[in-house]
Formats: sequence, C-alpha cells, structure tokens
Amino acid sequence: MSDTEHEAALQQAADWLRLAERVCVLTGAGVSAESGVPTFRASDGLWEGHRIEEVATPEGWARNPKLVWQFYGARRANVALVKPNPGHFALVELERRFGDKFTLVTQNVDGLHSVAGSKNVLEIHGSLRHTRCTVCGAVANRALEPLGDAPECPQCRGLLRPHIVWFGEGLDDDIWMAAMEAADACDVLLVVGTSAVVHPAASLIPISKRRSKEVPAKVIEVNLTRTEASAHADVGVYGPSGETLPKVLERLNA
Ligand code: OAD
Repeated sequence: MSDTEHEAALQQAADWLRLAERVCVLTGAGVSAESGVPTFRASDGLWEGHRIEEVATPEGWARNPKLVWQFYGARRANVALVKPNPGHFALVELERRFGDKFTLVTQNVDGLHSVAGSKNVLEIHGSLRHTRCTVCGAVANRALEPLGDAPECPQCRGLLRPHIVWFGEGLDDDIWMAAMEAADACDVLLVVGTSAVVHPAASLIPISKRRSKEVPAKVIEVNLTRTEASAHADVGVYGPSGETLPKVLERLNA
C-alpha cells in the first residue's frame, strides 16, 4: 500500500466514524502486541512453547491442571508487567465520543482495555484476572499475584480454574448475545488486530454486514496485514494499531 493509499484509508475510516451513530469494535491479540503481550498464532504452531490442546482445552485441563495453571500463571505474570498502548487509549477516546452507543468486544483476556479506561467492554473469551471454581462455580476477580499451580476456592475449597473460554467450550450466553446485538446495531464495525479465524468471535463481522437495518455497517479493518476479515472490510488500515488508531482519532477530531 502506498503512502497515499494509506492516508486515504485513514481519512475514510475517520469519515465513516464521523457519520456513525453506533460503533462496535472487535479486538484481538494484535491490539496488545505493542504492549508486549504475545499474539497467538506463531509460525511454529506453538503457543508459548505449548500445544494449544495441552493448555487451552477442557481435555488438556482434565489431563494436567497443574501444567495449565503454570501456563496461565506465566501469562498472568506477564500481563501484570505490561501497560496499555496508544491503540488502547485511542479506543477509550472513541468511547468518550459515542458514549453508550459504543461497545468494545474483545477476544483478549489481558484486561488492558479496562486498564486503559474503556468502560463498555465485553470480554467474550474471559479474563486472566478472574478465576472460576470447578465445584461451586463462583467467579472471582483476583489480583495478578501468583496463585500457584493448584489454587483453591476460598468458599468451598474446590479447585479453581482460569476463567477463560477454551477451545471446545461455549461462550457466556449473555455476553455473546450483547456482542451480537452490538455488531448488528452498529453503523461502523472496527476490527482491530485479529486474524479473524476463531469463531464465533469472527462471525460478528458478517453479522454487522447482514444486519436487518437497510444500510449494512461499514467495516474498517486495522491490522498489520490482510486477514480473513479483509473480504468483509470496506477499508483496510494496515500498520501497527498503536500508531494507526491514534491517527484515525486525530482525523476524526480535526
Ligand atoms: P491471533 O494471534 O490469531 O492474530 C493476531 C492478529 O493481530 C494478526 O492478524 C496480526 O497480523 C495482528 N497484529 C499483530 N501485531 C499487530 C499490531 N501491532 N497492530 C495491529 N495488528 C497486529 O489473535 P486473535 O485473532 O486475537 O482464544 O486470536 C483469536 C483467539 O484465538 C484468541 O482470543 C484466543 C486464541 O486462541 C482464546 O483464548 C479462547
């Protein structure tokens, strides 16, 4: 993409946002990459040295819960050290502009959108900051301190698990319903830093396009490269989101 095309894409994104009444944002690991949180799909097919089946499936958990906690313990420790980047903050600013007509749907479990100051955040894949009891089901918000490899529920002493949606598990019904409604109702869907290969999250993109209102949403893709989302995108802003999102906001405010 030439500089002129890139500039035109930034301007187009800002123009559509200016005309929008409702905005929905779908984020993935890429929005946190510049904060130092690794993305998922490394070229060796491994996730921080582990096969996904070992650490992010109910079967992996049943086989070796200690290994799963060691893996998530390391991720919690990393997230405790990192900070939101200008991409997260640009989305906070966007929410200020749209108020309650703004929904941020994130696949990320790092909690950085909320740390940055985003309010209406739907964490559809759960959160590293939360635990869930495998016996009584209680969900608790735990500070990012070490929990060890067999943490117990303070209420019933049952084994706690990470409050994360693993492969093969369903999403929380209420959270997913709210995400679908936001995608359906928005005039602009901003798709930031996701490879858009994991469903149902990625299906929010076609949902925003085939919504029941007369005019389908404009989809703006913000990524380093083209992805599975690109076929649905009306415009692609290619570059690191920590640089490009603030530029879109600059143009929107100009
Ligand atoms: P992926 O790792 O699949 O994709 C990350 C995307 O971010 C890629 O398309 C990159 O090109 C892009 N990217 C990297 N750095 C970027 C930057 N600085 N600015 C903009 N884009 C950048 O991550 P997700 O799409 O989030 O699920 O993965 C979806 C789900 O798969 C995750 O939520 C996780 C995983 O397995 C669960 O944990 C349930």
